[in-house]
Amino acid sequence: MKSIQQDNIEDYYIWTNKLTKVYGTGTKKVLAVDGIDFTMRSGVHGFLGPNGAGKTSTINMLIGAISITEGNAFLKGKKAGTKKAREFIGFLPQDPAFYEKLTGLAYLIFLARMNSIPKNIAKQKALNLLKFFDLMEEKDRKIKTYSMGMKQKIGLAAGLIHNPKLLILDEPTSNLDPLVRKKIIDYVRKISKDMSIFISSHVLSEVEQMCDRVTIINKGKIKLTDTIQNVKKWFSNFTNLYVIDTNSNETFLSVIKELKIITNAWIDEKEKKIYVNTNDIEQFQKEIPKLIIEKELILKSFYQPESSLQDAFLEIINKDEGKRNGS
Ligand SMILES: Nc1ncnc2c1ncn2[C@@H]1O[C@H](COP(=O)(O)OP(=O)(O)O)[C@@H](O)[C@H]1O
Ligand SMILES: [Mg+2]
Repeated sequence: MKSIQQDNIEDYYIWTNKLTKVYGTGTKKVLAVDGIDFTMRSGVHGFLGPNGAGKTSTINMLIGAISITEGNAFLKGKKAGTKKAREFIGFLPQDPAFYEKLTGLAYLIFLARMNSIPKNIAKQKALNLLKFFDLMEEKDRKIKTYSMGMKQKIGLAAGLIHNPKLLILDEPTSNLDPLVRKKIIDYVRKISKDMSIFISSHVLSEVEQMCDRVTIINKGKIKLTDTIQNVKKWFSNFTNLYVIDTNSNETFLSVIKELKIITNAWIDEKEKKIYVNTNDIEQFQKEIPKLIIEKELILKSFYQPESSLQDAFLEIINKDEGKRNGS
């Protein structure tokens, strides 16, 4: 019998093992992707992280645009960078470059021909895609006359011309005004009915609108992969997280675990301090000192942690279109 692990690689649209990217050499070395392990099954999967997190570097290794320094990546069992893997994916880069002298229609036909699609089918495919992306009126205009939004749409169409099974989008909504962003999000949702999509973004609110699951990356490391619901819950846990240290943490943990306003409490293995999530910060701040006195304990510290993880998330949250500004 095959082991479960052996079976798995081919079940995953994306499967990485210690995937690493180092740019440059010597003192100019940059560790952009730091041995990441993550997987994506079917559906729409977000790749969330602040600027410089390593999203584009990861994606470029997946599509075979740059070399893998160390580790492995497979797309449905096909090794990243191989011809089979490339045929399997469609890709929209963060800053797409076009043959701007071509018209939209000519460009798509050209790409289709590059992918060995017969001439008559190529034109039909191109027209279908132009229709899908509401670009029929612009089909005979040169791409250099297109707006940013139109360019993004023709970029998406280009990624779809060879019927990929997996579409990889690198920050498809960056550099676009809010209205066009919304449109692109709608197109992505429409496309997602027919294929699996991997989308990088630094904006949680956008990932939320498109994705079922999300992988969070920061400073070249994967922080977590989970459903969008759990990630949202997790974010709010993190902003409501406190650390308490007393002279008897075991005792105090059992006391506060009984409180209604505590949603989660545990003792951190390394620091041996109590970590608590609350759903009522005000009440929590009042009750903790009171309880300490009542139980005749000594409070050594009581604060909100400033871990790098939290920094990362705050950074992401702050970039969340100013939604949570001032909080
Ligand atoms: N070609 C390159 N040469 C050197 N460093 C690079 C290069 N491309 C990216 N980096 C660095 O790698 C890190 C990750 O970048 P990138 O993958 O573009 O992140 P993201 O797409 O999440 O913004 C950053 O520190 C960036 O400056
Ligand atoms: Mg990027």
